[in-house]
Amino acid sequence: HWTAEEKQLITSIWSKVNVAECGAEALARLLIVYPWTQRFFSSFGNLSSPTAIIGNPMVRAHGKKVLTSFGEAVKNLDNIKKCFAQLSKLHCDKLHVDPENFRLLGDILIIVLAAHFGKDFTPACQSVWQKMVRVVAHALAHEYH
Ligand code: HEM
Repeated sequence: HWTAEEKQLITSIWSKVNVAECGAEALARLLIVYPWTQRFFSSFGNLSSPTAIIGNPMVRAHGKKVLTSFGEAVKNLDNIKKCFAQLSKLHCDKLHVDPENFRLLGDILIIVLAAHFGKDFTPACQSVWQKMVRVVAHALAHEYH
């Protein structure tokens, strides 16, 4: 369900994304803006203030891990559901993450990309990324029961 133009736009932006930086920033923003998401990360140490969250190495490392995994979806645009089936099961059965949180993180990722790319993040880019994060959130919620 992607046009050739959409695929091209997604992969060209992705090739310029600093996964470690943007992943760390997106997860930190999630934890700051929606503080109730901190409950999933009680093993991550000090999350007591925005400064603590931004400087927390476990947040940085996990943010990178999450965005690296997001990159698998970019590489498998026609197969995202299958690609994330295991991860969906993990977030549902083991981690008990409410799927609403996938949508929140997706919206934050778009803000992070817009901040990093500035005017290169055109309305067309935003449009295709809104679709991308929606498809990813949907795939991650797919195995919930
Ligand atoms: C773990 C991906 C969203 C909570 C993971 C792992 C990956 C991942 C790859 C590591 C799995 C493993 O160790 O085998 C993603 C992707 C997301 C996403 C691609 C959306 C784009 C979220 C959200 C939350 C969350 C929104 C909660 C608010 C967790 C937790 C862990 C985890 C608690 C385990 C962390 C640990 O203790 O190491 N996720 N995730 N994830 N995820 Fe997600």
